[in-house]
This record gives sequence, structure tokens and C-alpha cells, in this order.
Amino acid sequence: MKPRTHTLLMVTSFVPVILFKVVARTGPATLGQTRIAALAGVACALAQCLLSRKLTKQTTYLERAFLAFLAVATLWVFVMPEGIAMHFVTHSTSLLYIVLCLTTLLPQAFGFDPFTYAIAKQWYPESVWNTPQFRTINLHITYVWSALFLAAACSSFSGEGKPLFSILVPLILVLAIGLPFSKMYPEFYLKRKFPARPEEHALFEGTARDLISRMPLGFNSDAIPGLSATIQFLLSGEGGGDMVLSVKNGQCTFREGRESSPTLTINSSAEAWLKIARGEVDRPKALMEGLFSVQGDMALLMKMAELFRPPATDQSPERNRFEEKLDKEQSSVKGGKESMNVLAIQGSPRPKVSNTEKLLQEFLAGARSEGAAVETVYLKEKNIHPCVGCYTCWTKTPGVCVFKDDMPELLDKVRGADLLVYATPLYNYNVTALLKAFQERMLPLLDPHLVKESDTYRHPKRYSSGASGMVLVSTCGFPEVSHFDGLRQIFRHIEKSGKIPLVGELLVPSAELVLKQDFIRQKAEGIFKAAFQAGVEVVRDGAVSKETEASLQQPVVPVEELADMANIWWDSFQKDTARTSAQEKKLSQDMRLLLRGMALTFNPSAAGNLKATIQFDVTGRQPGAWFLSIGNGTCTYNEGRAPAPSLTIKTPSEVWLAIAAREKDGQQAFMRGEFKAEGDLSLLMRLNVLFGSQ
Ligand SMILES: Cc1cc2nc3c(=O)[nH]c(=O)nc-3n(C[C@H](O)[C@H](O)[C@H](O)COP(=O)(O)O)c2cc1C
Repeated sequence: MKPRTHTLLMVTSFVPVILFKVVARTGPATLGQTRIAALAGVACALAQCLLSRKLTKQTTYLERAFLAFLAVATLWVFVMPEGIAMHFVTHSTSLLYIVLCLTTLLPQAFGFDPFTYAIAKQWYPESVWNTPQFRTINLHITYVWSALFLAAACSSFSGEGKPLFSILVPLILVLAIGLPFSKMYPEFYLKRKFPARPEEHALFEGTARDLISRMPLGFNSDAIPGLSATIQFLLSGEGGGDMVLSVKNGQCTFREGRESSPTLTINSSAEAWLKIARGEVDRPKALMEGLFSVQGDMALLMKMAELFRPPATDQSPERNRFEEKLDKEQSSVKGGKESMNVLAIQGSPRPKVSNTEKLLQEFLAGARSEGAAVETVYLKEKNIHPCVGCYTCWTKTPGVCVFKDDMPELLDKVRGADLLVYATPLYNYNVTALLKAFQERMLPLLDPHLVKESDTYRHPKRYSSGASGMVLVSTCGFPEVSHFDGLRQIFRHIEKSGKIPLVGELLVPSAELVLKQDFIRQKAEGIFKAAFQAGVEVVRDGAVSKETEASLQQPVVPVEELADMANIWWDSFQKDTARTSAQEKKLSQDMRLLLRGMALTFNPSAAGNLKATIQFDVTGRQPGAWFLSIGNGTCTYNEGRAPAPSLTIKTPSEVWLAIAAREKDGQQAFMRGEFKAEGDLSLLMRLNVLFGSQ
């Protein structure tokens, strides 16, 4: 049905009443004239209804109201006695306005469409007709018309049907109030209920598809808590396509394709949608003008500006909301917060005896001391299938992996954390396979699109939630900190791509010696203290200070010595180590190294619950005082004099080094008085079982 036909019919629907008024009022109104006018009017109204029915298969409220009025008028003037009939003649205009007033009030009271629907439907696209907002707008307009008709009836009645009161005043009311209000009110209402923030997208340079695919990045789950909905975009033309945004469990995902029964469907050309998003076209106006159409939950459409804030873009000259959120989260890390959630991902395959674990737990203790809530996830205990690269989490089920193992639960934890701590031993210059598998399975947290940030393309984050800081905790076997270079580089990339600042690096080389061996523990105390301090700093200041990071990396003994000791330790596992090895040579030349090596090769199972201190008072080429403390199944190396040693060995360094190198027999040397021993001599006899191969 063409809109022009509707308009024409609307105009002609007034013809019967105009005809009635014209005939009845030509000259002084007499009963005879009124009878003729009523007959002419009712015939005309009937014709109008038939015509309308033929053309539009329905009649409007106005047509039915006029027909009813004229039918009653005809009956009245023909049936009623002349005196009463003349009342109708006098007040027919007032009665007409009352009929119109009732026509505006009654339909909705009986569950029918409001009076203005038929007219409004001609002005607005079909897609909005069944929306609650369209109904509300029409009800508001209808009630304004009711008031106007009532006012017109009063005016006409008080003016006793004189043209000034019965025609001019009502006409002024219609022209000055009714029509402008009907035209302007929908836009006013929608603008108020339909707040858009086009300025935030004003400088967006991508396609409409880019824009929509990035919407989950700015998803604000607080706008409609508990919302479960799908929004289908059907955008025609270049840069468009069929796209779906799914909202569930406080998360929003994007995918291409069609949804069988979406909550809301938005149809538009890609070009128009982009213009609307950028604010070049007014959104309510665009809807009313049919630039885009919607089916489904109109209320959801109206909430979209709140539901989706624009994600960060490099084009934006100002920091947009998404970045503000990131800043807020960062500042909460910086400023420290009581309830900061620290999640540690422990990647060592031997967490029970892990060097990294010792370091990590000191760090977490520091964070806890500042009020943080900490949790450690031991990947060794988790069932995490390696990623198979099917990309299902980017295609068929965006954000959801095909494997239903422990990973989905861990991803939820990751999203709920304020600070993410990756703890891993250095394996082949990288993270362990456990951590690598975990990191690969974090793919669902990313959006597949390639988005240029600064000078590099990256995958944006799928969700706006998640940690706002990241800490790397790692230990390695080699003594130089440069072994961590590759790992650090990788974490720099992770930092950039995830937009999660790396706020601390706790890197400890020579960890097998420094963190594991009790003989060196005293010296390593500083490392544990620094790890604790790092935990304090990250919660309190938002980042680990460079000084603290540096003190963790300081070699506790010279690098070369560490290497020698490490080799002694490894040798202790070889029953028949060749005497000629370079290590053995070195060992035979250095008293201090030898005593450290003794502590290193201490055999706790041979010691049982022995508690003793062995003092070495050394003279000769390498003079000095050192002692070994044995207790609780450990042996520590110490410099200086013990207060009350169990055994004191007084020896020139050359003698003791020669015994250790098996160039001299210990017992014979003692008998010959080459070295002296005081105190518990049974301990002296046990030395070769207490120290050596394990
Ligand atoms: C398979 C494997 C690979 C390793 N790769 C390296 C390496 O590339 N560089 C290094 O310095 N240490 C390396 N190490 C030594 C460990 O990093 C070191 O022992 C670490 O402290 C172990 O940590 P954990 O006790 O927490 O498991 C490797 C150890 C293993 C078992």
C-alpha cells in the first residue's frame, strides 16, 4: 500500500463531517437542513469506509468515528422530537469533538492500538511498529490529542457552535499544538531514551565490520547485569556482513554468521551504520527514516550505548573509556589495594622441590603482607591439553575452546585476577612446556583480528576484564643473568600484545646452588628478602623497584666459584669421577672451595639426626677460619669461628687439600701429626661418609 493512498484517504475521511457542517450551516441551521446534512454526511462516511476498506482492507478509527457520529446524528434528527433534535443542531460540533475525544481514549482501554498508530505507521518504518517504544510514543501523542479534542469540545460548547469557537479555536489547537507535537515528539522521546555517544567513535577509521568486531572489547557487563542476549547485525555492502554479538555470563563474544533467533536484529547498510556510529547521522532519526531497521528487543537497542563503550583506538586523540578503565586498574595496582587478587601460575614440573617455588612463595608472602589475596595454581597438577590450533575459539565458538579440561576454569581465574604472576624455571631459554601449554591455551582471551597498535599489528583482548599487571618469576641453572634474555624478550611481547604491564622481573641465576643448597643459604638470605620486598613493592607501589630486581640477580659468590661448585655438586653423583678433571684440580688448590664443596656434597642420610659443628682453623698457604654446621639433615658453610664446635680441625691448607685430592691418606696424616683434631674424634672418623658421593 502506497503512503500516498493512505494520506489521501486520511484527508478524504474528513469530507463527510465537513459536508455535514457545510450543508447544516448554510444559512441559519434548521432541523430540515440538519436532516439533509446528516443524510448526506452518513452516506459520504459510508462511501469513505467502503473505499478505504477496498483500498487498504481496513478502516481507520477516524473513519469509523465519523461514520458513527453521523449515523447517530441521522437517527437523532429523524427520530427525536423537534425540541430535542434542535439541541443536536446547536451542539453538533461540540458533540463531534467529544466523539473524537472518546475515539482517542477508548481503543487502548480495550486493548486496541492507540488512535495515532495508523497515522504514525505511515511515517515510520515497519520495523519499529511493534516495539514497546513505538507504542509508548503513540500513547503519549494520543493523550495529547484527547486533551485537544476535549478543549475543542469545551470551546465549541461555550461558544454555542459559533464558527470562532467551534472551528477557529479548534483549528488553532490542531495546527499550533497537535500536529507539531505529533511530528516532533518521537524524536525527542527517542533521543532522551536512546543516548548515543557518537563522538567516541567519531574518528574511527575502520570498516563497520571492524567496529562491530571490536565491540566486545568495550563491553560493560554492569549496564544490564545478568543479560543473556544475541545481537544480530545484517550489514549490506562493503565492510559489512552478517555478524553476531553474544552476551552471556557477563561476557561478550563476536562471531560472523547468523543466529537462529536473535534477541535483536539490526539491518543496515555498512556505510550507514558506520555513519551512525561516528555520529554523522543522528541515530533516532536514522531509525525513523529507515536508514537502519530493527527487529526484536528495542529496549536492548536503547541500552547499547551503555552496554558497549568504545574500545581503545590509536586514532583517538583523547584517552577513551576503555583506556581509562585500564588506567584505573593500573592505578589500583600502583596505589596498592587491600583486596588485590594475585594469581600465580607455577610452571615448574617439580613444584615440591622447586627453586622457583621458593622464590615465588617469598614474593607472595610479601604481597600478602600488604593485604593482597594470593593464589597459586600448580600447572603440574592440572589437566591442560596442548592447543591443537583448530581456531574453534576464534571461529565457531568465539572465546570457548574445544577442550573441556581444567583450562576454562583457569581462564576464569585469570580474568578475575588483578596481578598475574608467571613463575617458571628457565627451560631452554624459555618457559617450561607446562607454562607454554597454558599460555597457548590463553588464545580464547584474544580477539582474532589484527589491529595496528603503534607500529605493530596485534590481537586485541576479547574481554575488558583481567589483570592490570604482570610479574615474571624465574630461576635458571647457569650463573649469568644474561641466560634470561630470551625469556625477558618474550615477556616484553606478551606485555605489549596483552596491554598488561610487566611490573616486575624476579630472575635468579645459579638457582640450583643459591636457592637449593643449605650450605650457601646464609648468603642467599638476601635473595629471599629481596623476593619478599618485591611482593611488598608490587602491591604497595604497583611495581618492583629496579634496585630490588637487581639485588635478586646479584651473584652471591663470584660467578666462577659458583660454576666450580656446581660442577663439584654434579660430580658428587658420579661414583668414579676422574681425578684428573679440571674441577678436581681446582678443588685441590682452593681450601674455601673445598669446604663449600664439602657442604654441597653433604649426605643427610648418613648423618641421621646428627647435630654438630666442625671448625677448620687453617694455616699454611690459604690461612683462614671456617666451620660447617650440621643439623636437621643439612650442612651449611660458614666463615669465621663457631662458638662451641663439636670438632676442631687445625691444619695447613696444603695438607687438607692433599687429603681431599686423595694424595694423602687422612688417617695416616693425623697419626703423623700433619693436622690436629680436638673434640669429638668419632666425627673425624665419619667425615668420608658424611661428605662425598650420595
Ligand atoms: C629441561 C631443562 C632445561 C633447562 N634449561 C636451562 C637453560 O636453558 N638455562 C639455564 O640456565 N638453566 C636451565 N635449566 C635449569 C633450570 O632452569 C634450573 O634448574 C631451575 O632453577 C629449576 O627450577 P625449578 O626448581 O623451579 O624447577 C634447565 C633444566 C631442565 C630440567
